[in-house]
Amino acid sequence: MNAEPLGTIVCTEDGPSTEQISFVVGNRNASTTTVGQIPVHVGQYVSVETEEGLVMAHVEQVYKTNRYFSQVDAVHEFTRSGKPFGAIFPIDRWEYILAKAKPLGIFEQDRIQRITYPPSPGAIVSSPDPNILSQFLGFSKDGIHLGHLLFHRIPATFDLTKMFQKHVALLAMSGAGKSYAASVMIEELLARKTAQGRPAILIIDVHGEYGGLAEAQEIKGAKVADQLSVIRSPLVEIATPYMNAKSFAAYSPDMGTIQVRELSRIIRTLRSVRKGQPYDLGDLITALEKDPSINTRTREALLGWLDNLQSYNLFGKTSTPEWQKLMKPGHGVILDMSETVSLQKKQIIVDAVLRHLFNLRRDGTIPPTVVFLEESHQFCPEARRALAFSKGIVETIAREGRKYNLSLCIISQRPVRLSTTVLSQCGTNIFLRISNPYDLDHIRATSEKITKATLTSISSLSVGEALVVGQATRFPVFIQVRKRTTKETAFHEDFETVAKKFEKKEKAK
Ligand SMILES: Nc1ncnc2c1ncn2[C@@H]1O[C@H](COP(=O)(O)OP(=O)(O)OP(=O)(O)O)[C@@H](O)[C@H]1O
Ligand SMILES: [Mg+2]
Repeated sequence: MNAEPLGTIVCTEDGPSTEQISFVVGNRNASTTTVGQIPVHVGQYVSVETEEGLVMAHVEQVYKTNRYFSQVDAVHEFTRSGKPFGAIFPIDRWEYILAKAKPLGIFEQDRIQRITYPPSPGAIVSSPDPNILSQFLGFSKDGIHLGHLLFHRIPATFDLTKMFQKHVALLAMSGAGKSYAASVMIEELLARKTAQGRPAILIIDVHGEYGGLAEAQEIKGAKVADQLSVIRSPLVEIATPYMNAKSFAAYSPDMGTIQVRELSRIIRTLRSVRKGQPYDLGDLITALEKDPSINTRTREALLGWLDNLQSYNLFGKTSTPEWQKLMKPGHGVILDMSETVSLQKKQIIVDAVLRHLFNLRRDGTIPPTVVFLEESHQFCPEARRALAFSKGIVETIAREGRKYNLSLCIISQRPVRLSTTVLSQCGTNIFLRISNPYDLDHIRATSEKITKATLTSISSLSVGEALVVGQATRFPVFIQVRKRTTKETAFHEDFETVAKKFEKKEKAK
């Protein structure tokens, strides 16, 4: 084991105990596994050999103290004299660094045990062996390589099953790196080999920013050309013959029971006339117009709703694309919705596609699937009055998807607006920077694993830094999301660049 000594455990009012240890940092410049010249960071891991075994602890606070500066009146006097402090006293030699760490458990022969006996004062605190730390945190060699553990040169690699068995929530304020982190996850899924288990992937790309992924030929040495298809939302069609009156009513919430019953009858008649031949919404509208027995008011009301749905240009004879053929192991579909403006239309598309995938997955027709849902708060909002056609199916998948290995990765910059049902079903949370206090409160309320101290650190993360909490990791971990290997879509040009380009283009006209 190549653990490197960091310091020595000292006695304080409340320790060493099984809850807390404090250590004086010994060698200020010792650092091979930690990054940079700073000897100890808040957030890094340390280890201590004890009678019970190897205790792993997480540094929660770091203090500096210096005897020369503890006498307020003396410091004041010297400052007034105008002489530099360092010229008179050997102040450097009296600066101590005291770190407080929380013991997490004992690593004993590949097992983690609860700590029941504190380390002794005088015991040496070390920077842990990377292999042991990696096993302790529950990282998996074959897993999803999201980045590296902050302050340690250890790849943060999460087990596929632990991560996607229950859903993932990727939450952060705008610009913190959610789509970037999601792209890294998608790269990892695409680069998996058959022997490692390959799910199918659906990316619901609201802003059209995942196109860059599809251009990749190779990711991490794996050939991925043609593994991703981009489907533009104007091309999506929902198979009308598979819709019953209730499915139409779900998209026209004012439809009453009498109208649903009449529509149901008309659909039955149309189906028997067509004898298995497919029909579209236009055919259904014609059948409704020609129906001899329907009462005029019901006909007019139904026509109003169906005409409104017809205006979305969505309900065709068959389902386009053929999802069953597209959702293959190791393959992904980017559903680019950037050309669709109407939020209701987007919700209907998401609803229909997810219902279809849910059924296909339940029958075992398609492989285990991961669905990345961008701008999730638009598709499964918490507020009742923010009616969203897709909320029901997203919540159903959140509750039942685990049984069928249909996993969601919920991406949102407004956690406070997200369905709590969906959020609470996410086994793993990945937080990038969040500063809005309402969002932070909401997260605290929905995730029992998050302490107040952890919550505070979410608001001070930098772009690309993330906190991973939940099933994918044995303890909450701070990571730096790795660089993408695929191209980012030229989407994030800054304000100034876009303004300059605009004027140049105008001049050229
Ligand atoms: N891990 C990272 N490494 C390097 N650059 C990053 C990383 N994460 C994010 N960035 C940069 O930050 C920018 C914003 O990231 P991204 O588009 O993922 O944010 P977002 O959270 O999805 O924002 P929005 O809510 O507006 O969609 C990106 O253009 C990217 O270049
Ligand atoms: Mg984004």
